[in-house]
Amino acid sequence: MRSVTINASKTYDILIGDGLLSQAGEKIAAVCKGESALIVTDDAVNALYGSAVEQSLQKAGYKTDRFVFQNGEQSKNLETYTSILSALAKTNISRSDVLVALGGGVTGDMAGFAAATYLRGIRFVQIPTTLLAMVDSSVGGKTAVDLPSGKNQVGVFYQPDIVLCDYSTLKTLPEEFFTDGCAEVIKHGVILSAELFDLLKKPILPQMEDIIARNVTIKSDIVMQDERETGIRQILNFGHTIGHGIEKHSNYRISHGKAVAIGMVVASRGAWRMGLCSEDCHTEIVDMVKQYRLPDKTDITPEQLISAAFFDKKRSGKNISLIIPEKIGKCVIKSFSMDELAAFIKMGMSK
Ligand code: NAD
Ligand code: GLY
Repeated sequence: MRSVTINASKTYDILIGDGLLSQAGEKIAAVCKGESALIVTDDAVNALYGSAVEQSLQKAGYKTDRFVFQNGEQSKNLETYTSILSALAKTNISRSDVLVALGGGVTGDMAGFAAATYLRGIRFVQIPTTLLAMVDSSVGGKTAVDLPSGKNQVGVFYQPDIVLCDYSTLKTLPEEFFTDGCAEVIKHGVILSAELFDLLKKPILPQMEDIIARNVTIKSDIVMQDERETGIRQILNFGHTIGHGIEKHSNYRISHGKAVAIGMVVASRGAWRMGLCSEDCHTEIVDMVKQYRLPDKTDITPEQLISAAFFDKKRSGKNISLIIPEKIGKCVIKSFSMDELAAFIKMGMSK
């Protein structure tokens, strides 16, 4: 088992191991002293792992209940969030009790937002079961739901009390969702670690514990420097301005991971054509995206992506910050006017 500690507004451990799910109760009880636990999970994850986690919590002395919603990004909305709040009230959860998010990024983001806002904040645990959630969304405290106008538009920063990454759960994860997580892993390599990027050229399944630990360490280091994304944390959004537009305009049929993969390809092509990175850097990103069977293009038009960028959280007044790769393992944050952004997206999407 590996352990990474984050020291931000809250100090907490991210444990990475094979079979951690059955120890969830004791690991959670060591940091959360409450009496009751509400497990929030989606229907697919519930069928696979809901009982194991609930039994482990009961063994550790918790009174338990489960809130189950329909899996998928379409559920990540205010309606499901309100239903979670009602379930917390029905279960009579107090501030010292705990909400356990069991699932992928949709579950973690939405349950985290409920934990942050119910009674102005209750104890919160992340048990990520997708690669994306293990390497990215369960770490760092971003919580949110989507609005019809855009992705993750309502949310707060709220750190968990502990994160338990049991990578044996990845055995049941359908390949398309595993691939989504690979996009965020590639992103971490491009922006901060040429060494990680190189490791991805070999099969990652045999290296899973090391790959998750490296990603969590990369993300933790950034979160510890800039928890509320006023500066350096923005680099974790490489590929996301374009990616969020693709998600929204596909009505969420294109998943977050696949949209980010296309976003990284478009951003690196735009950067190369504007003379901000070499052609080799762009080509390496395209090759890696293809190696992981992620898409590298979309039918969504540049105009649709430009209009979506107006709702992006990284826009401030007339300017927007974009993450530009300079070479594999190094990127910069650059401020673009909306006209420059339009030109950048058009260059990034033209053949
Ligand atoms: P997801 O939570 O929808 O999970 C994908 C699918 O996998 C779901 O159908 C789920 O039921 C299923 N699943 C989960 N674990 C499984 C398992 N072990 N076995 C079988 N099936 C399983 O999606 P995701 O890709 O994990 O997360 C995407 C979300 O994460 C997006 O909403 C995105 O905005 C968000 N995100 C947040 C952050 C952050 O920092 N908070 C970072 C990146 C992405
Ligand atoms: N996924 C980007 C961040 O957590 O900042």
